[in-house]
Amino acid sequence: MNLSKLAQRAGTETAFEVLAKAKELERQGKKIIHFEIGEPDFNTPENVKKAGVNAINENYTHYSPTQGIPGLRETVANYISKTREIKVSPDEVMITPGGKDVIFSTALAILNEGDEAIYPNPGYPIYESAIRLAGAKPVPMPLLEENDFAFDREQFKKLVTPKTKLIIINSPGNPTGGILSLQDLEIIAEVAIKNDIVVLSDEIYSRILYDGEFHSLASLPGMKDRTVILDGFSKTYAMTGWRLGYAVANNEIIDGLKKIAVNSFSCVAAFVQLAGIEALNGPQDEPERMRKEYEARRNLIVSGLNEIPGISVKVPKGAFYVFPNIKKTGNKSKEVAEYLLNEAGVATLSGTSFGEYGEGYIRFSYATSQENIKLGLEKVKEAFPKLMG
Ligand SMILES: Cc1ncc(COP(=O)(O)O)c(C=O)c1O
Repeated sequence: MNLSKLAQRAGTETAFEVLAKAKELERQGKKIIHFEIGEPDFNTPENVKKAGVNAINENYTHYSPTQGIPGLRETVANYISKTREIKVSPDEVMITPGGKDVIFSTALAILNEGDEAIYPNPGYPIYESAIRLAGAKPVPMPLLEENDFAFDREQFKKLVTPKTKLIIINSPGNPTGGILSLQDLEIIAEVAIKNDIVVLSDEIYSRILYDGEFHSLASLPGMKDRTVILDGFSKTYAMTGWRLGYAVANNEIIDGLKKIAVNSFSCVAAFVQLAGIEALNGPQDEPERMRKEYEARRNLIVSGLNEIPGISVKVPKGAFYVFPNIKKTGNKSKEVAEYLLNEAGVATLSGTSFGEYGEGYIRFSYATSQENIKLGLEKVKEAFPKLMG
């Protein structure tokens, strides 16, 4: 049997593959230090867990509305109105099983075959995959180290054609930790308005920021109605396994997302949504504590990596990733990542897992303890001279 052309077009998220490989090595008795997956090592805050358990005990275990339960849509509308300084109504919110679904559903709801969609490269691999699944042409927007991993404004303008229907941006960004400045967003807004383009603004790391200020594209004049905000609970509240995210968009786009959802997941578990209400409305000291700890880890890993001959890394401003340059080794990123896993027991991802512009880099997720980071740095330091020939 041959899989469909659509299934064959789908890309993947290499982090899950490397995680499986690292786990297999662990099963064989090897010690592995994990830097591959973008998953907080913290547990979900107690108040949020309690809200979920209570909701199960109260039998919130039935089907619920496809767009999301009214209580959570209202909570998200208030949260986004406040944090993005725009007026959002609960009708403009769609609750999804994780932020990832917003990428997939938006691509399917907006793109037609033959359309073009611009996406960040290196970037979260699901962007390119979702564009391909929708039958559209992915157009990479290079994020270069010399621009602090923001895009080149002049080059960006040249990527836009009459076929461009969607632009995807991500700030703070995976895998680079770079952020887009207000001026960058103004250029995107200008181009989107002039050419009637929808923008998917992936803001899943908006609360994991160390330097600078977070700006949402949706806050810019004329942009609220042509922006799909993607945000969620996985990273900010350490809720990756709960599968809870959301889209904020105009009513027409929300209708499109709902159509896709009713054909696939029907609804997000109601007890998970009630936990989400508690996450947003309850005390915010846990997410802040986690953010501070990520910042300490960032400082540790950046200074440690910069001490290793052959590695240089810029200080990321947000998210929990570093994207060191390993070009001096003269090896391909994939070879370096494989070498570090097999020889040093350090699991990282090749920069090319995030697109062709990731060649010359590897990604470390530092959502792991300072103790692990120190141990990992020692192993990399020990193993690296061999790579340098
Ligand atoms: C940039 C970006 N967007 C979206 C997601 C998806 O998040 P979720 O686990 O909520 O689906 C991730 C997860 O790694 C991510 O890095």
